[in-house]
Amino acid sequence: MKKIIALLLSALMVMSLFAGCSKKTGDGGKTSDGDGEKGTIGVCIYKFDDAFMTTYRNSLQEILEGKGYKVSVVDGNNDQAKQNEQINTFISQGVQALIINPVMTSAADQIISTVKDAGIPTVLINREPTADQMAAYDKLVYVGCDAAQSGTFQGELILDTANKGDINGDGKVSYIMIQGDPENIDAQLRTEYSVKALTDAGVEVEQLNLTRGDWDRNRGQEIAANDLAQFGDQIEVIFCNNDDMAIGALQAIQSAGRKVNEDIYLVGVDALDAALNEVKNGNMTGTVLNDAVGQATEAVNQMEKLLGGTTYSEGNQSVYVPYVKVTPDNVGDFMN
Ligand code: GAL
Repeated sequence: MKKIIALLLSALMVMSLFAGCSKKTGDGGKTSDGDGEKGTIGVCIYKFDDAFMTTYRNSLQEILEGKGYKVSVVDGNNDQAKQNEQINTFISQGVQALIINPVMTSAADQIISTVKDAGIPTVLINREPTADQMAAYDKLVYVGCDAAQSGTFQGELILDTANKGDINGDGKVSYIMIQGDPENIDAQLRTEYSVKALTDAGVEVEQLNLTRGDWDRNRGQEIAANDLAQFGDQIEVIFCNNDDMAIGALQAIQSAGRKVNEDIYLVGVDALDAALNEVKNGNMTGTVLNDAVGQATEAVNQMEKLLGGTTYSEGNQSVYVPYVKVTPDNVGDFMN
């Protein structure tokens, strides 16, 4: 049934494309060097129900529309098969370019071969494939951040506290790690580099638990509540791979009668509005700005370069936007 609907949709789109050509409505399929008529840009998001990617996609839409593109943003519902269909549908609709936040990094090869076969300029965002995978297609670029840097910054936020994270003075920092989706390189590198910053500085660490929370606030709350019940005062630091999980963890910390920056430290990544408020109020030790607007701006910039004929070769296919450490001292700079 889905296939029939997809076929019908494709047929309709092809018909509307021809209509578009003769009437010059500026719909999808036009080639443009920036001066010509602007077509439709297809944007695939891994799932709409993700706090950070919501800010990011809203920003993408605003920037693209501001530049006169038509934009179609679709929700992959965290389902790679669904996203593959959405990419195929966009291709059959003749979109001018694609911006794709893959559901699974492991699907990168398939996504890249699909867009390459169709010859669609493509910007991948948020989930970075390997340089080898990207080298398969020269009209492809990745825009994101250097995930290791965000982990290092989280570790530095702990090193910058009065006791370098060792609240109980037993000579080691005992922590729990609440991880994002472990298939995602952001989750892997933040987990590794946050702790590495401590050990590189000569601080001894003890991991009490590591649990995947899939970037989700409720999971952050559940995991922190369980760990606080199990390990109690032993926990000195809660590292969360993102802010949404940290906000959840904060609820558990408060329910357990603990006080951030007094008897426990808590750090996240993203600089969501809610997290900025908590950093300001002293309920989070710090966070790291994951610059959604900066990345959306760069993604559109790279897309326009591709549309203008720029091609990429192995080794220069990733463009990084810097992370920024956010503490009570500078949090005001990031608040609206
Ligand atoms: C990360 C971000 C997370 C989540 C994830 C989705 O960069 O920090 O909050 O949005 O991307 O892939």
